[in-house]
Amino acid sequence: MEHLIKQYTLDAGALEIQYIEESFGEFPRKKTATEIMRRLGDRDFLILMAEAPLSDDPMGTVVPVSFKVVHELRAHETDPKLADLVARLRDAIEFEGRKILYSWIGGTRSDWRGQGHFRALTEETEVWAHSAGYHEVLVKTKNRFYDMRGTLDTLEFDVVKFEPHQTDNRESKVYLSKRLTSDVLRGHTSRRTLTRA
Ligand SMILES: CC(C)(COP(=O)(O)OP(=O)(O)OC[C@H]1O[C@@H](n2cnc3c(N)ncnc32)[C@H](O)[C@@H]1OP(=O)(O)O)[C@@H](O)C(=O)NCCC(=O)NCCS
Repeated sequence: MEHLIKQYTLDAGALEIQYIEESFGEFPRKKTATEIMRRLGDRDFLILMAEAPLSDDPMGTVVPVSFKVVHELRAHETDPKLADLVARLRDAIEFEGRKILYSWIGGTRSDWRGQGHFRALTEETEVWAHSAGYHEVLVKTKNRFYDMRGTLDTLEFDVVKFEPHQTDNRESKVYLSKRLTSDVLRGHTSRRTLTRA
C-alpha cells in the first residue's frame, strides 16, 4: 500500500489537528489550534498527516486519517511543561550537545487503524529528523494506552523511564525513545508519497 502523506505549515496544520482530534473519543483533553501554535511557534517542528479514501464514497474522496506532530526539545526550556519534561528525563536522556526530538501528539482514526498509516508517518518523521541532525526521538505515553504501547513496541522504541502513578498504575507514565541511526532508516518498510499542503 502506498501511503499519502502531507506536510503542513504551522497555521494550516494546527487547524487540521484541532479538527481531526475531534474524531478521537479516547482523548479527553484535545489540543486546540491556539495551543499547538503556541507550542510550535518558536521551534523546529514537523506536522504530518496521512490521507486515505473514505470507504463508502464513490467519488474516492481522500481525507486525513492519521497524524503526527514532533518538535525539538531543548536542553534548557523556558516553557514550564517542556522544562518539567526535560527535568524528569535528565537521568534517562542525554540532552547536552545532542538534538532531541519530542513526538508530541499523534494517532489514527479508528476506522483506519491497522493499515500502516502510523508506521508510514513515523518512518517519514525519522527520515526528516535524521537529515535535520536529530540524535534521538522521545515519546511519552501511559500504561493504559495499550494500542500506543503495542505500536511503539513494534516500531522499536525502547522504554527509558517509568514513572509510577501513586494510586492508579494504569495512569503511570512510560517514556520511550529511539536513537536515529542510519540503520533505523535502512529498516523502514512503508511505501510513501510526500506532498506539501
Ligand atoms: C496507536 C495508533 C496510533 C496506531 O495507529 P495505526 O495507524 O493503526 O498503526 P499502524 O497500522 O501503522 O501500525 C504500526 C505497527 O504497530 C502495530 N500495531 C498497531 N496497533 C497495535 C496494537 N494495538 N497492539 C500491538 N501492535 C500494534 C502494527 O501491527 C504495525 O506493525 P507492522 O507495521 O510491523 O505490521 C492508533 O491505534 C491510535 O491512534 N490509538 C489511539 C491513540 C492513543 O492511544 N493515544 C494515546 C496517547 S499516547
